[in-house]
Amino acid sequence: MNKPTFLTTGGAGFIGSNFIRFMLSNYKDSIKVINLDSLTYAGNLENLSEIDHLPNYRFIKADICDEQAVDYIFLNNDIDFCVHFAAESHVDRSIKDPSVFVKTNVLGTVNLLNAAKKHWQTGTGFKSGKKFVQVSTDEVYGSLGAEGYFTEKTPLAPHSPYSASKASADMLVQSYFDTYGFPMNITRCSNNYGPFQFPEKLIPLVINNARAGKPLPVYGDGKNVRDWLYVEDHARAIDLVARKGTPGEVYNVGGHNELQNIEIVKIILDSLGSSHDLITYVEDRLGHDRRYAIDASKIKSELGWEPETSFGVGIKRTIEWYLKNNGWLKNAASGDYLKYYERMYGGTNP
Ligand code: NAD
Ligand code: TYD
Repeated sequence: MNKPTFLTTGGAGFIGSNFIRFMLSNYKDSIKVINLDSLTYAGNLENLSEIDHLPNYRFIKADICDEQAVDYIFLNNDIDFCVHFAAESHVDRSIKDPSVFVKTNVLGTVNLLNAAKKHWQTGTGFKSGKKFVQVSTDEVYGSLGAEGYFTEKTPLAPHSPYSASKASADMLVQSYFDTYGFPMNITRCSNNYGPFQFPEKLIPLVINNARAGKPLPVYGDGKNVRDWLYVEDHARAIDLVARKGTPGEVYNVGGHNELQNIEIVKIILDSLGSSHDLITYVEDRLGHDRRYAIDASKIKSELGWEPETSFGVGIKRTIEWYLKNNGWLKNAASGDYLKYYERMYGGTNP
């Protein structure tokens, strides 16, 4: 029997690389993983240095918007699961330059959908065992007040160019099911944290700045709430949805770990033994969503998924990882990680 083949887009980023490591350590050589990534500023092959020698793992440098490249990958590999992480993912960047978010997150997703549809369809429907998983975000639901949770039925009401581009992509993915019966799921997850997160996002940024004695920029009053999920719990959820999710369904994934930003910053400072004087309130983010919180009861009742890592355990593990991997953090913050591809692959596409 052929080994199930996972095409993972954006596998050199934070969540994608954690997903690939999780899958290869769980399933060993009983699966094949292809990592399709264009290596934007957020793509770092160093994230995969533990596994990049494995014979059942392959990296392909390509842009998800490149029709020919994506078609070629589907033509030459019997892809069973397309797990789609590749995206522009940082809200602040989307406020400065929305266009690239539309290009990658919307047009890139349509390009992948078209290739998967073309290679997976039969005369009467789709080959069995195929699945497209759109890895999305709770930010597509907009912002909550002090009460309540996002469910899968909450109407989409994105506010930032980032979340608007993800919502557009989600609706396109859903439309391929509604129109063609294309086998898909969408996962909508709350904020992830853990190893290998690019230090533009809150938690690694605070760890990095605190270590260097630099100010910690806290937007607005610091009381915006996010629902934090340890990245490995997210990887486990995506694997379950890919294999067992009912085609056409959306699954929310959340950690039930609601914290204000300022609480997170103080937890990290206390854990590092750094002074709270580093906290610097700065101008608020434009259109800053106040609160995100996920109701993850559907994925629990249908697929038996629950977060396993409490915030206390996850944040300790995360801080320890960044301290132990200071070289990674320094390379990521300075841009030196960009040299890794040249060093490892000599600029040629393997
Ligand atoms: P990331 O920014 O760390 O990584 C994105 C990866 O995609 C990078 O490796 C980058 O090189 C690649 N990429 C970008 N544009 C590409 C293109 N045109 N072609 C090929 N590759 C391209 O992002 P992340 O935090 O790992 O997020 C992964 C996915 O999960 C995204 O779709 C994001 O919307 C979603 N998500 C993230 C979070 C979070 O907390 N980080 C929460 C919920 C959902
Ligand atoms: P971020 O990690 O950018 O994730 P997202 O915007 O997708 O939720 O930000 C998490 C929260 O932290 C968000 O409310 C914005 C806030 N934040 C700061 O206060 N200071 C910062 O320097 C950053 C990057 C974020």
